[in-house]
Amino acid sequence: MKAELLYEGKAKKVYRSSTDSEKLVLSYKNDATAFNGKKKESFPGKGRLNNLISSLIFPYLHERGIKSHFMKRLNETEQLVMETTIIPMEVVVRNLATGSITKRLGLREKTPFSPPLVELFYKNDDLDDPLINDDHALLLTDVIHKELREIKAQALEINTVLTEFFQSINLKLVDFKLEFGRLPNGDIVLSDEISPDTCRLWDLKTNEKMDKDVFRQGTGDLITVYEQILQRLERRV
Ligand code: C5P
Repeated sequence: MKAELLYEGKAKKVYRSSTDSEKLVLSYKNDATAFNGKKKESFPGKGRLNNLISSLIFPYLHERGIKSHFMKRLNETEQLVMETTIIPMEVVVRNLATGSITKRLGLREKTPFSPPLVELFYKNDDLDDPLINDDHALLLTDVIHKELREIKAQALEINTVLTEFFQSINLKLVDFKLEFGRLPNGDIVLSDEISPDTCRLWDLKTNEKMDKDVFRQGTGDLITVYEQILQRLERRV
């Protein structure tokens, strides 16, 4: 199913599909990294969990009218996606203050954002993914003004859909990161992954952290919490 390795990132490998040259195979790795790769560990089973979780979330978004690169799950650790050129910009949506924004702006932990806050970061490891504004995004990427407006609007729409989705499995969507990519026809679609690696998810009742923060902060077992997320999702669908 997969041919040439095109790219290896921190959490995934990207191959060209051997059966359809316009499609890519995303292969989820077991590696977890934090602080831009400064903390790194391998967790057997993590690739499978993120692939299964992401492969449940993208079809749900499709049902709600949100287009993405996702086509189908191929097996335990791989999924088939449309080829896109990734826009070097991370779009973060925040419902509650935690993580980098509390340090950057001195906000109190758990300050609610209403409306939710959208932040842009330049995807550049050498620069530690700095926060950028709209003008920087227009300068550093090939997106035009109208596309940037649409990306931000879509990120907020995804937040609305996913907040309700996670609420139905007793999870609070605190914040998350999205990436967008350009299809060969020029359209921009949601790309990359949506998983506990890229979202902060807190138990609705106990506020227990059920995402990569357990690894970042060394407060729990990553596989145990990711398995719980998958179980809750599977029970729902
Ligand atoms: O670290 P920060 O508070 O800015 O992270 C905001 C959200 O974006 C978190 O859910 C985090 O998991 C996600 N994120 C990510 N990849 C990055 C940076 C942040 O998935 N490179």
